[in-house]
Amino acid sequence: MTRASYNDIAQWYDQFLRERPVYMEVILPGLLTLVGEVEGEVICDLACGQGWVARELARRGAQVIGLDLAPNLLALAQRYEEQEPLGIGYVQGDAQRAEGLSDHQFTGCVCVMALINIPDLQATFQSVRRILKPGGWLVFAIPHPCFESPHAQWTSLSDPEHPLGRTVTGYFDERQWFSSNPDGVRSRVGDYHRMLSTYLNQLAAAGFALERTLEPGPSDRQAERVPGNREIPTLLLIRAHLSDGPQAENISRG
Ligand SMILES: C[S@@+](CC[C@H](N)C(=O)[O-])C[C@H]1O[C@@H](n2cnc3c(N)ncnc32)[C@H](O)[C@@H]1O
Repeated sequence: MTRASYNDIAQWYDQFLRERPVYMEVILPGLLTLVGEVEGEVICDLACGQGWVARELARRGAQVIGLDLAPNLLALAQRYEEQEPLGIGYVQGDAQRAEGLSDHQFTGCVCVMALINIPDLQATFQSVRRILKPGGWLVFAIPHPCFESPHAQWTSLSDPEHPLGRTVTGYFDERQWFSSNPDGVRSRVGDYHRMLSTYLNQLAAAGFALERTLEPGPSDRQAERVPGNREIPTLLLIRAHLSDGPQAENISRG
């Protein structure tokens, strides 16, 4: 499999999203639970891709701006906006600096399944801090770092009560990796694996206070596709807000 960027696989990813029930049936309900009412909120969809999350939030009354690195995904997002005008603005840029976005522009920020594609997590949380108003919130969704470590695999168990398990390897090895599954995203663009403690410590280091987390179970259709999801969550969603306290300076990784 040739290694690619999201810009190279924009059309393929757009199709992939529409075929996988996990996005609309698992991620979206979890995201909306953590985001809450959005009427009147000014929200950044960071690393928005083709904009499906931005559209869901805008349809519910939020004013949304999406930022992404990949011009081809932004062109798709813009095309969806032309088909169904929702007032969403799109900006091309790097989430690690978010230079096209102003200080304190947003009341909230969402980042769905994208922190794993961005090399510098601390820089990204610092960008989110900069663009949020005081007290602003961040909700992000990531593959569950405890169960989606490099080359983790489903395994058959002999226990009829729990027929599937998961072998987790390489948890402490924080690095970019590429899966060998030819049907997935990770074999194409890779994934930066980080420990759960790294996400939580870096969030705190950027001045965020944890509010709530979700480890959603599958919808019926998702459980049919991935039966192991009945036993083990593969997603983690986190809500945090900017705290007034002093920003921790030197919280190290791990
Ligand atoms: C798995 S896709 C998720 C896209 C969208 N949030 C969704 O749920 O479909 C990851 C996205 O991260 C974007 N991305 C990767 N690195 C980025 C960066 N440094 N700054 C902004 N976007 C980036 C990619 O272009 C891609 O759209």
